[in-house]
Amino acid sequence: MSNDAEAALIDRDAAHLIHPLHSRSGHSAGKVWVAGEGAYLIDANGDRFIDGLSGLWNNTAGNGRVELVEAAARQMQELAYASGYTGSSNPRAIELAERLSQLSYSNINHFYFTSGGGEATDSNIKMARYYWKLRGKPEKTKVISRVWGYHGVTIAAMCCTGMSPYWKMFEPRMPGFLHIPTPYPYRYEAPEGSPSQGIAAADELEKAILAEGADTVAMFLAEPVQGAGGVLVPQDDYFPRIREICDKYDVLLVSDEVITGFGRTGTMFGLQHWGVQPDLMQYAKAITSGYFPLGGIGVSDEIAEVMQESGEPWMHAYTYSAHPVGCAVALAMLDVVEKEDFPAQAAAKGERLLSGLRSALADHPHVGDIRGLGLMCAVEYVKDRATKEPFDAKDGTGTKIHSATVERGMFSRVRGDVYCLAPPIVTSEETLDKAVEILADATRAVLG
Ligand SMILES: Cc1ncc(COP(=O)(O)O)c(C=O)c1O
Repeated sequence: MSNDAEAALIDRDAAHLIHPLHSRSGHSAGKVWVAGEGAYLIDANGDRFIDGLSGLWNNTAGNGRVELVEAAARQMQELAYASGYTGSSNPRAIELAERLSQLSYSNINHFYFTSGGGEATDSNIKMARYYWKLRGKPEKTKVISRVWGYHGVTIAAMCCTGMSPYWKMFEPRMPGFLHIPTPYPYRYEAPEGSPSQGIAAADELEKAILAEGADTVAMFLAEPVQGAGGVLVPQDDYFPRIREICDKYDVLLVSDEVITGFGRTGTMFGLQHWGVQPDLMQYAKAITSGYFPLGGIGVSDEIAEVMQESGEPWMHAYTYSAHPVGCAVALAMLDVVEKEDFPAQAAAKGERLLSGLRSALADHPHVGDIRGLGLMCAVEYVKDRATKEPFDAKDGTGTKIHSATVERGMFSRVRGDVYCLAPPIVTSEETLDKAVEILADATRAVLG
């Protein structure tokens, strides 16, 4: 195709299409993707790019997985759709719930399906509030989450998301949602005398619960590793302490595994790194490797039992809950995850990527931090390494680095001046090394 092919498509796109996070200026140099091959995306000009973020953290199995395509086609032919409302079910949904019960945290054995992550956040908020009502504590409704947390953008999920640019246009936010500082090892400053940075960051939760009153707090929602916030890996003592605090004050711990689920960080689910079990969890994205929109929540035995004893219907519903095609694709994907040992692959490849980034960039005067867990990494650029002073937002450093990587054949995302990398788990070692080379080269081109 000619070099104008993409520009012509972008012109047509601008005339009628509204995108997530739409911005006319941001889109004018946009890409139009026409094909995918494994860990590569191909644009309308026929150029190939490393898929540096697996789409949006979801396509862990890469493009062209025939087993996922066939699972969808087979299911569409057999039964395209059936209601998932009570009184109606389908075999794939039953099998998927059974399978998740084997794979996930041992206390979580009950599953409700959604179309994606934001709906899963809403479903968990409703589940938590309903649970506390059934337990005779109807005032326990508040939701605590963290600055830099991302949990989706439905109106309730948006209130959990801890990044103010997502709220500004749509405020007022709903009451009863609050954010505590995040355990950002590079930037969190523990008060003097704290036993450790991780404990101090976790104790922010206790402070917030005490300030609000434990009788008013329903749940604490957290990603095991914050993704969209810039790949923030918590300290090893953070989540064990969080679990203690949640137990002490009767606050449900909700693990948002929408990015970390199904192997991404080197374990099947994120909190397994620290031997912690949540009360509720949520997943989406990699459960189908992005081949079909599917997400959901996982509910502990204790919560499910209280709910079942109530005998009343749970008045929460989505037309596409337990969609047979989504469930069929998810089942085929879980075969891939297990047969190809995605957790082990992500652990080994993540180590290679992280050490490659460190050798190439650790000495650069504008690289403040290089971090990651499993195949989920980030490089944070700063104006001054010694003081960690960020670049002025007006400089658009992150955006310039993104553009420079695109020119060199890689497409990922930045959060401010943090370049995130989470390529498909099937990415070859050679391609991971190439990703490092591209980012290092782009860094030198932009920052010297
Ligand atoms: C941790 C996390 N939770 C929830 C969501 C929202 O998912 P969705 O965009 O499918 O609504 C995302 C999306 O990136 C996410 O990263």
